[in-house]
Amino acid sequence: KRPAGAPDKGLARPVTKVGIVGAGLMASQMALLFARQLKVPVVLTDIDQARVDKGVSYVHAEIDKLAAKGRLSADGANRLKALVGGSLDKAAFADADFVIEAVFEEMKVKQQVFAEVEAHVSETCVLATNTSSLSITEMAFRLKHPERVVGFHFFNPVAVMPLLEIVRAERTDDATLATAFSVGKSLKKSCVLVKDAPAFVVNRLLTRFMGEIIRAVDEGTPFEVADKATEDLGLPMSPLVLLQLVGPAVALHVAETMHRAFPDRFPVSDNMKRFVEAGKTAVWTWDAAGNQTVD
Ligand code: CAA
Repeated sequence: KRPAGAPDKGLARPVTKVGIVGAGLMASQMALLFARQLKVPVVLTDIDQARVDKGVSYVHAEIDKLAAKGRLSADGANRLKALVGGSLDKAAFADADFVIEAVFEEMKVKQQVFAEVEAHVSETCVLATNTSSLSITEMAFRLKHPERVVGFHFFNPVAVMPLLEIVRAERTDDATLATAFSVGKSLKKSCVLVKDAPAFVVNRLLTRFMGEIIRAVDEGTPFEVADKATEDLGLPMSPLVLLQLVGPAVALHVAETMHRAFPDRFPVSDNMKRFVEAGKTAVWTWDAAGNQTVD
């Protein structure tokens, strides 16, 4: 059955090569998924060789884990590894049909990335963004071909979470959207078409939910108590672990986007800001008197 709002699948264009801008954790997880499910070459790029190498090594190590679990034969693992490469030069995207960015969650950075990519790809190459909360319409604004821009939002861990939010921006055309749905289906994801609104659908809910837990902590509930109480409600993962999985900096960016859009409903915790600014990886601690501090 065609997902609600998806255009006729006959409009979808074939995808024979994928480019990924960014080689961080989310991007590397995406590279593995694209190569494994679409069986096409995937190229990761980043700002320096060390990052590119780290991304490719991550994918190769994950492929080894799949082989060790018996999910891939030795030959299959080698074939899959050969599909995933890295390059510092976006000219490597020249024959790509689908390029997705997963770089720093900053509008100007993403606009610049798309402008650079556009200089190297064909007129019909889809430019997808894995942004968690930013406006896709604004991201596409100054491009020569804004109609080929689409939101393609994965959830962490990419290999496991079934949901994919596909976002239609103001100028996205039907062929781009149909291609996005076709790729999402090949990736075996559950695709939903969502509006280009701040944080789309799911991160709105998650931000509110995490924000209220953080607020309870700011108001004096020990994090441990808030964390355990919400985990024992039956969630798949404790909020503290989820925050670390998503990355506190990403979670803060989403919270700030939501705050700009709906200041009354989405306050931003000062503790959370200080925590991210300090580059911390553990969340709150509290002293002997039970006062919360950002460690
Ligand atoms: N990468 C790859 N695979 C992973 C993984 C990871 N980081 N973590 C777990 N898995 C795989 C395991 O290998 C295992 O696979 P197999 O069954 O094939 O062996 C499977 O997932 C289940 O793992 P576990 O049994 O170890 O653990 P679990 O049953 O506790 O499930 C979980 C792990 C799926 C991550 C679960 O805890 C969960 O659903 N957590 C919530 C995650 C969530 O809410 N994500 C959304 C975050 S928001 C976001 O990402 C959007 C944004 O824009 C910020």
